[in-house]
Order: sequence, then structure tokens, then C-alpha cells
Amino acid sequence: MSYQAPAQHTDSTHPRPHGFAASAEGLTKVYGSDETRVVALDGVSVAFERGRFTAIMGPSGSGKSTLMHCMAGLDSISAGSARLGDTELNGLSDKKLTQLRRDRVGFVFQTFNLLPTLNALDNITLPMGIAGTKPDRAWLDQVIATVGLGKRLKHRPAQLSGGQQQRVAVARALAGRPEIVFGDEPTGNLDSRAGAEILGFLRNSVRELGQTVVMVTHDPVAAGYADRAVFLADGRVVDDMPAPTAERVLEHMKRYDAKGHSGPTGV
Ligand SMILES: Nc1ncnc2c1ncn2[C@@H]1O[C@H](COP(=O)(O)OP(=O)(O)OP(=O)(O)O)[C@@H](O)[C@H]1O
Ligand SMILES: [Mg+2]
Repeated sequence: MSYQAPAQHTDSTHPRPHGFAASAEGLTKVYGSDETRVVALDGVSVAFERGRFTAIMGPSGSGKSTLMHCMAGLDSISAGSARLGDTELNGLSDKKLTQLRRDRVGFVFQTFNLLPTLNALDNITLPMGIAGTKPDRAWLDQVIATVGLGKRLKHRPAQLSGGQQQRVAVARALAGRPEIVFGDEPTGNLDSRAGAEILGFLRNSVRELGQTVVMVTHDPVAAGYADRAVFLADGRVVDDMPAPTAERVLEHMKRYDAKGHSGPTGV
């Protein structure tokens, strides 16, 4: 292997230093029961440092979305721990989870989740409206300019293309400068030029502003924008690559496919 997996992310015997925006220890998520039982996450331990850009990769059904949802407080945890900063999410009340998501997390959903009755601009600023915070106008303008929505701000989601809806979803997640931005394939519906603009913007927000970004992607080129790529298979972390490049990620994916480590975990 041309890289080494960092060892510190799995050692639960030492207290974590400050500096992790989010972390999981033995995080397990089981859906259903009996014959419909699916172990979507099977004891995942991983930590995301502040001010870094991490790509989460892995075959369809490997647990990428589930990991993001559990770590963002959007889904409950079956066992283990998920922390946002120092806050343990396992056991938090729904009310506390809602507050935490609103105040500390930006999330770009795989299916966008825009409000159909609001136009693009109102969708983008909605979370801040709910949290009662005023948008930083200069930042908001920069976000909107980068995602390329200038002439579509008054359109509702149904009047936008899939790619345009995705840009609204990205802008919404970044607008309030949350502690951590999770993106579930945030450029999956964009052509390569629009995708590159958003990926470049995400990377700059990390480098220049210290934003923390965790992004699921299937695309080795997108992963090449990140500082680190974490690979999931069958609900487990199977590799951890610092400074990924598109070439090395592609090579890794081919090697994994050859080993046959793909497909959902059914128990
Ligand atoms: N709400 C649910 N109920 C039951 N099973 C679920 C649910 N959500 C996910 N799963 C199962 O958990 C496993 C992991 O799903 P997940 O959506 O996290 O995969 P993924 O890696 O994001 O895949 P993709 O790349 O296709 O988006 C899959 O086997 C899936 O069928
Ligand atoms: Mg998914």
C-alpha cells in the first residue's frame, strides 16, 4: 500500500484531544428486525478533525449515508457513540438533537430536501431564520455567486433543474457557517464544471476559513479535492487515505472491487 491508515482514530483508551469536529466510537446502526434486519453500520470508529475536508467513499449500501445521518444527529444510534465536538448524541432528546442540528450542522442531503413552497433564496436562508441568526451578507453573496444561482434565486425548487436544486442545497448548508458541513454526494447531479466550482469552493472554505467538511462521494476526482478519504465497506471503515488523489482513489477502488468487498450488509 502506498499510504498508512492513521492509528489514533480507533484507540478509545485515550481521551480525545480537542480538535475533532465530530467523532464516532463503535457506532452501530441496525435497521429493522428478524428477516428485514440490516446492520448498516457495524462498529464504526472514526474522527473528523476540525478544519479538514474528508471524503467518505464506498460501494452503494456500504453505510455512507447512514454514517452521515447518525453523526449529524438526523438518525438514532443503535449502539456506540457519536459526538459533535464534545456533545454525545447517543441518548440526546429529540428536542436537543433538533437544536444541535439547527445551530451546529449544515447538511446537504442526497435528495436535496428543499422546501417546495419557498424560492431558492428563502430556502438558503431558512435555517438561519429558524435559528434567529442574521446572515453575513458578504458571505451569503459569495456562497450564492460560487454555486452559480444568481438568476434563479426567485425560483421555487420545482422550477429548477436537479443540478440547480443541488446548488441551493449546498448554499443552504454553507450559508450559516456551521461547525461542520456534511454533504451526501453534494456534486452528484452536477456536470464536471459546476461540480469543480462547488468542490473548489468547499476546499477553499476549509483552507481559508477553517470550515470542517465531510463529503460522501463516488467520484475519485471529487475525492481528490479532500484532505483525506475514508473508505467504508459493509458498514465498516476499511481504509483511511491521507492526501488522496483521483488516481490513487481509483486504484484503491479497483483493488477493492477485485477483492469482492461490495454490496449491502444483510444479517
Ligand atoms: N431506513 C432504512 N431502513 C432499512 N434499511 C436501511 C434504511 N436506510 C438504509 N438502510 C440499509 O442500510 C444499508 C446502508 O445504507 P446507506 O443508505 O447508508 O448506504 P450508502 O453507502 O449511502 O449507499 P448509496 O451509495 O447507494 O447512497 C443498506 O443496506 C440499506 O439498504
Ligand atoms: Mg447514500
